[in-house]
Amino acid sequence: MYNELLEKAKEISARAYCPYSKFTVGACVLYESGNIYQGVNVENASYGLSLCAERNAISTAIAQGEKSKIKAVAIYSPNQTKCLPCGACRQWISEFALSEKETQIILEDDNKQVLVLSLEEIFPYGFKFN
Ligand code: THU
Repeated sequence: MYNELLEKAKEISARAYCPYSKFTVGACVLYESGNIYQGVNVENASYGLSLCAERNAISTAIAQGEKSKIKAVAIYSPNQTKCLPCGACRQWISEFALSEKETQIILEDDNKQVLVLSLEEIFPYGFKFN
């Protein structure tokens, strides 16, 4: 399953709009429902307005009416192995995560093997309303 998610992140990464950084990113988010949503980074001439692939995928899920929680997020960049989500995306994933322990981040390592990290490992002590 994780291989499949990573493949889908890889496939969609070809659609990234990144003429400024030339740094291509694709993301694929798996929900408890079994639904998956893909996203790419979308840049802007006003650089700071650029949108990351992960937040694009999560926004798509919400717009499509997804109500369940995030089980896993696969991220792929042809420019860099182990392309981890930025801080803002970690906060976004946390907002909709099943739990920090159960939600997995799926990456490709230097040997093209699947690397699985928990959200807790990469985003401990995140901000939450209690
Ligand atoms: N980017 C992502 O899409 N996801 C991340 O988690 C990190 C950065 C994008 C934003 C920008 O278009 C490019 O990568 C370089 O920062």
